[in-house]
Amino acid sequence: MTARLLTGIGELVTNDGSRRGELAIVRQAAVGIDADRIAWVGPESDVPAEWSGADRFDCGGRAVIPGFVDSHTHLVFAGDRSEEFGRRLRGESYEQILAAGGGIHSTVAATRAASTDQLEASALARIRRMAHMGTTTVEVKTGYGLDLETEPRLLSVVGRVAAAAPITVVPTFLGAHVVPKGVERAHYVADVAGPMMGAAAATAQFVDVFCDEGAFTVAEAEQILKAAAEVGLRGKLHAEQLAHTGAAALAARIGAISADHLDHATPADAAALAAAGTVAVLLPAVALSMRLPPPPARMLWDAGVTVAVATDCNPGTAYVEDMQLVVALATLQMGLTPEEALWAATAGGAAALGMGDRGVLRPGAMADLVVLDAPGYLHLSYRPGGNKAARVMAAGEWW
Ligand code: NIG
Ligand code: FE
Repeated sequence: MTARLLTGIGELVTNDGSRRGELAIVRQAAVGIDADRIAWVGPESDVPAEWSGADRFDCGGRAVIPGFVDSHTHLVFAGDRSEEFGRRLRGESYEQILAAGGGIHSTVAATRAASTDQLEASALARIRRMAHMGTTTVEVKTGYGLDLETEPRLLSVVGRVAAAAPITVVPTFLGAHVVPKGVERAHYVADVAGPMMGAAAATAQFVDVFCDEGAFTVAEAEQILKAAAEVGLRGKLHAEQLAHTGAAALAARIGAISADHLDHATPADAAALAAAGTVAVLLPAVALSMRLPPPPARMLWDAGVTVAVATDCNPGTAYVEDMQLVVALATLQMGLTPEEALWAATAGGAAALGMGDRGVLRPGAMADLVVLDAPGYLHLSYRPGGNKAARVMAAGEWW
């Protein structure tokens, strides 16, 4: 691959500042790319002479931002829950539907029945749509298999999707999504912490637990994440989403890389997460889809917690693939500034996945970026709806 030089960038968001949340903008900028990595960043007037032979791409005064890092999705699933969604909009609750055997359980039944090829194809289609809208790294959880055969099969689907996708895919094992129907709790927890964890050790990068009312208790989550640590995998937690259960405090205590959702988090939780360096992954599209108040982003940010925002793409609570919409919701409904929201959707997401070379445009980082169809990043919130990505580059390739 030849070296390329992006020129004519009216506004370049690098995220390469010294403070959390600093966009570190360069105006009239250029970016040099060598193979899959960023090699040079700065004002166009300072481009070194050795770039004179590079392939040039003129951004025409448009803005360039780091590719979005969507750090929380459940995008491997089969079936359709639009009927259930309609029932919720007519008054039934998510918890009622789940307790009656619908919700996650209906996706589990459809996912178990789907072939590996079908699951791979539908997941890849979702990822391609995400990439089209500027996502260049996506975390993907299992969690709709929930047995000894299907959870490892879903991990292999995520592996196949990662090999075929145009962007980086980070696999997370979420065997502890809910206790499957017809299985005794303690038995299932032992399966997740035992044989399923063995399979995850070889293929997953993180282990997540849905620690909430109607899902797993704090004690069960701790048992599962201890087993994860024993095989070298870091924990994540779905925490304080439906109710306040103490999951965020557990995430801080065991040094989880992230605590996600946090709709019911308290100032004490925020202080614990900030002290532990656990990233808060906030999911404003869930509040939109569930007609709920948005998560307490302002409180968490102001307490010094590192905040990420992500789609939570899943068939139940947020069938959303678009990180541009998430940025708009983070500002318009969740109270972050446009700068905080963009940082959280890029560098914050990278922090939630422990990736120092994503969500930032600096020499050595992955060449993952978006040329916006706009003069500045403010358009992401100013012009909600529709795709504002003019061109997307992932690992140095336009696609
Ligand atoms: O992140 N909280 C748990 N899991 C998903 C919802 C899964 C579903 O309803 O299928 C979530 O909201
Ligand atoms: Fe989730």
